[in-house]
Amino acid sequence: MSGTEQARKTAEGLSYLSGFGNEHSSEAVPGALPHGRNSPQRAPLGLYAEQLSGSAFTEPRGHNRRSWLYRIRPSAAHPAFTRIDNGAVRTAPFTESVPDPNRLRWNPLPEPAPGTDFLDGLWTVGGNGDVTQRTGMAVHLYHANSPMERRVFSDADGELLIVPEHGGLLLRTELGLLRAEPGEVALIPRGVRFRVEPLDATARGYVCENYGAPFQLPDLGPIGANGLANARDFRAPQAAYEDVEGDVEVVSKYCGNLWSAVYDHSPLDVVAWHGNHVPYVYDLHRFNVIGSISYDHPDPSIFTVLTSPTDTPGLAGVDFVVFAPRWLVGEDTFRPPYFHRNVMSEYMGLIEGAYDAKAEGFVPGGGSLHNMMSAHGPDRDTFEKASAAELKPQKIDDGLAFMFETRWPVTLAPQAAEASHLQTGYDDVWQGLQRHFRPGNV
Ligand SMILES: [Fe+2]
Repeated sequence: MSGTEQARKTAEGLSYLSGFGNEHSSEAVPGALPHGRNSPQRAPLGLYAEQLSGSAFTEPRGHNRRSWLYRIRPSAAHPAFTRIDNGAVRTAPFTESVPDPNRLRWNPLPEPAPGTDFLDGLWTVGGNGDVTQRTGMAVHLYHANSPMERRVFSDADGELLIVPEHGGLLLRTELGLLRAEPGEVALIPRGVRFRVEPLDATARGYVCENYGAPFQLPDLGPIGANGLANARDFRAPQAAYEDVEGDVEVVSKYCGNLWSAVYDHSPLDVVAWHGNHVPYVYDLHRFNVIGSISYDHPDPSIFTVLTSPTDTPGLAGVDFVVFAPRWLVGEDTFRPPYFHRNVMSEYMGLIEGAYDAKAEGFVPGGGSLHNMMSAHGPDRDTFEKASAAELKPQKIDDGLAFMFETRWPVTLAPQAAEASHLQTGYDDVWQGLQRHFRPGNV
């Protein structure tokens, strides 16, 4: 059985814990989890107890994140880290180029070279904020055709929202295993170590690295107690551990640089855990899409799956928004997303099918950036078609697009500004929008 087949067999047999932000607990060996206290004099089964903090100890209960891990060796048992090449990974503050007011669009990354694992294939588009201040975000792409073997990654700089577009992933994390297929998203919390095995010959997708407050579900206001992404549809892993002796490279992304240490064991050796600083997966097809049943296209915030709040109420460091299959029924309404200029900055990607504001050129695996205040909206063909369409109920069912929407402009990494897959002539999709103004002719 090939490595990919083995990984798929493992992935298909996984079971999960259900819920968002829960105090979960799980043990891979019965009796491994202490009861009644977190750090007994001697933890069960000869394990070490260790707390992993995802928030300051003193943050309010609703924002407090931590998990207790019961492991074969404590994380402290490691040799010194040394810098390694950062590859194509870049980090805020992005100072090598200036923010670009132009509308930009990219084709997918080219095929990865043979032997490219997830970390090798991580490629930064751009970002904002300052990683040492824990503000802002980065947009990355990835492509991979090999598993991370005896190699583990962790990101001290932020949480990683992984959005597969082509090929599934098996994520082996400290807290257990997750499977993420195209149409699903996976989140690896800040500092949690993991390795990635593709479930298909190649894997490709997007990553939002969120330096700011951890993603949470948006408040629902008048929507009520249910809707959008429902908490029960988020899945956390069951405890699973590797008891592996011998060299394992552990790569840590730390304040923008990659650092490496060779451990004499796998750090994915957590036998039991409890807490709420946990990885999870979510199937975007479960998103409860809410929209207009009278007139007008709602603002796209109605499609928010997850939000990273800032100190200003309602102003997100980054929102993760999905454009999922839905019915359009608005009367006397221009139904595609409207023309607009936005103080927020929008990076969009496409997981499958087509996006209803772009007739062509925006392809799965590609991306677009409409930076702060850049004018954008439907392309010419979409506008003409939607303006003339008969307004009967219409199902949008052939696409799954998403947006990372952020409060600060996105500055590109030079490799993204100079990439061969950056499209030229994107502005042309808005050329030829005809003048229709006829004073006096209502
Ligand atoms: Fe927009």
